[in-house]
Amino acid sequence: MPENTWWKRGIVYQIYPRSFQDSNGDGIGDLEGIRQRLDYLVWLGVDAIWISPIYNSPMADFGYDVADYCGIDPIFGALEDFDRLIGEAHARGLKLILDFVPNHTSDQHPWFRESRSSRTSPKRDWYIWRNPGPDGGPPNNWISNFGGSAWEWDEATGQYYYHAFLKEQPDLNWRNAEVRKAMYDTLRFWLDRGVDGFRVDVIWHLIKDAEFRDNPPNLAYQPSQAEINRFLQVYSADQPEVHEVVSEMRAVLDEYPHRVLIGEIYLPLERLVAYYGPDLAGAHLPFNFQLVHTAWNAREIGTLIKEYETALPEGGWPNWVLGNHDQPRIGARVGPRQARVAAMLLLTLRGTPTMYYGDEIGIGKVEIPPEAVQDPWEKNEPGLGLGRDPERTPMHWDGSDQGGFTSGNPWLPLDPSFPTCHVEGLRNDPSSLLTLYRHLIELRRQHLALSVGRYAPVAAERDIIAYERWHGTERLLVALNLGHEPRTLSLPHRTMGRVLLSTSLDRREEPVGAQIDLRPDEGLIVALGT
Ligand code: GLC
Repeated sequence: MPENTWWKRGIVYQIYPRSFQDSNGDGIGDLEGIRQRLDYLVWLGVDAIWISPIYNSPMADFGYDVADYCGIDPIFGALEDFDRLIGEAHARGLKLILDFVPNHTSDQHPWFRESRSSRTSPKRDWYIWRNPGPDGGPPNNWISNFGGSAWEWDEATGQYYYHAFLKEQPDLNWRNAEVRKAMYDTLRFWLDRGVDGFRVDVIWHLIKDAEFRDNPPNLAYQPSQAEINRFLQVYSADQPEVHEVVSEMRAVLDEYPHRVLIGEIYLPLERLVAYYGPDLAGAHLPFNFQLVHTAWNAREIGTLIKEYETALPEGGWPNWVLGNHDQPRIGARVGPRQARVAAMLLLTLRGTPTMYYGDEIGIGKVEIPPEAVQDPWEKNEPGLGLGRDPERTPMHWDGSDQGGFTSGNPWLPLDPSFPTCHVEGLRNDPSSLLTLYRHLIELRRQHLALSVGRYAPVAAERDIIAYERWHGTERLLVALNLGHEPRTLSLPHRTMGRVLLSTSLDRREEPVGAQIDLRPDEGLIVALGT
């Protein structure tokens, strides 16, 4: 893939559609709302939007339970709205990536209704049906990702079906050739409509152990953790045969020019990178969530970058993610000052960055009162802090009621900071986080060194992460202070440069030498040799 491939140079922006912009006053965001905000995304400077599922769904898992892969849920609009959205996005030079949820359907999907209608149904084998275990209970010890057994008893046909998530999300049987064909056709349906790629939900889950062996116990399990952690997921996910499916999906995308395949994969590095596939014929971008899980200090993050760069296969293109609709927001994890450093890290590392809506205005930790809880995971396993509502609250557009998100009652409460923290106010504030994001994105666009350039770490004292990015004759230095004290970065004697951008947005053009002073919580991008 040449270095000007759009998904290598570009920035992906994730939209959680329920929370971006409501256009009809029902308190839930929709496609028309996204369309109305396209100019904001162009102003911000991102290249592609990925929209979490918008398909017909009973919304047991807010769209990750699909009842029709080729339809739009009326909550979000209709196919005409989708066509209009993609047309207008493309007219502005924005790419559009859809979420594809192949591991499971809704239990209301016609395929599952048919499958559960009888043991001899032609679609019986489209899902995973098993007889009870020897004790009459579930067939094995697999746990649902949302707690409890992953097996649901079906009284009418006297078998269990498997669901890695909610019981309303039965897993498809990806060992069945008809399932694969039907699902690849749904990809083509959207590719024909012009979508630029897919983010594939829980792609590492698609194939399960052929013998359904029990998972081994996890000796490190603590009761404060989600129940899924009681066992190591040795047999229920990441099976060798999954790579065949990934490469088949990739082949479908390759029937069309310039499409991107992104895989959602929560696995340790060495297993994650296998999803690039042999000869890079797997996912273009197996999502790299390591920044989400690594402690926010220079030593650990520095080590992580090194290990990731080392683990990548030859020619495999890196990517970085700071947050998404399943993870506590970066602002909540590291606080407002380090959120600026995090933005600079995300947008200067080698690899495609994925931003999460709302992070650019600094939405932090939002407390959800018990009566407002929506997330089924929080309802299934309450009190452990597993709920994902805090990172799914509505976007703040202006200082009006409900932040300009809706004229009705929002489906989740807004962050109480919204009257003073919204796009309209922050975009005119020269020192805001939003302004920083915009400058970072602009700089990344202007300097190929920052997007597709080479990467090399620079040795630094405690609290500092430093690296060089270069392309052609241009050399840039990035120095980030992850601590709250002033720090100095010592570079080789005679180093000369000038500041291109500081996270505090006030040191532009400042000349720097071999000793670079970083303020507390400050990041700098420096052009070297000038
Ligand atoms: C993925 C989604 C998450 C969803 C789950 C089941 O992890 O990101 O939101 O609940 O899959 O589809």
